[in-house]
Amino acid sequence: MKSRIAVLASGGGSNLQAILDHLDALGHRRAGDVVLVASNRQDAGAMERAERRTIATAVLTDPGPSALDELLTSHEIDLVALAGYIRLVPPEIVVKYDGRIVNVHPGLLPAFGGPGMYGQRVHRAVLEAGVRVTGVTVHFVNEQYDRGKIIAQWPVPVFATDDAGTLAARVLRVEHLVYPRVVQGVASGRLSLQNCATAGIEFVDSKPAFTLLPHEDSRLAENIDLALGC
Ligand code: GRF
Repeated sequence: MKSRIAVLASGGGSNLQAILDHLDALGHRRAGDVVLVASNRQDAGAMERAERRTIATAVLTDPGPSALDELLTSHEIDLVALAGYIRLVPPEIVVKYDGRIVNVHPGLLPAFGGPGMYGQRVHRAVLEAGVRVTGVTVHFVNEQYDRGKIIAQWPVPVFATDDAGTLAARVLRVEHLVYPRVVQGVASGRLSLQNCATAGIEFVDSKPAFTLLPHEDSRLAENIDLALGC
């Protein structure tokens, strides 16, 4: 049976799109279907993307646990993927869906995470700190912002010429490759709280090597598949 996935998003929804496209590409091998997209904003681009696909949508006006609980229950949701969702998931929901809520963060947690660290703020902080490597983290959600168990990370280089915009674009491209694969892995049960996969590892000539981007997206996707054991 396929997992029923809800995506919660506050923004443009490019990660939602990447999940939809990846599950489409997997065809009958996909472990789940996105059956609900919910947002705290009616005008979020993610809502429009969902409507175009005739996926059920809901606006979460009330930040409390009851409305979200009711929504997830009524759509018989197995797995929740946060994709640029800026609200904290209420602790009651975190407990009920333990190990079944995942989030993508555009940085290498636990650095550059926590309350207020989202979107361009993450990339600006990375540039201000002068670090040379940033990346993508996918983690299970607990009751604290960005502190749940890490499932997968992938590095992305920071270049001297970067501004927050160029860095965000480079990181987002990797989010689109890593996040859908982790969603598939969690939906299938292969990745779980007990069995978190991996750090970012590139395979060069079949040998693991810690190298960095940029590469062709297709090669990078293959390497992420290998690292995640897809
Ligand atoms: C992504 O960078 C995600 O990591 C962050 O917010 C951004 C959302 O982008 N939490 P999109 O709405 O998926 O395009």
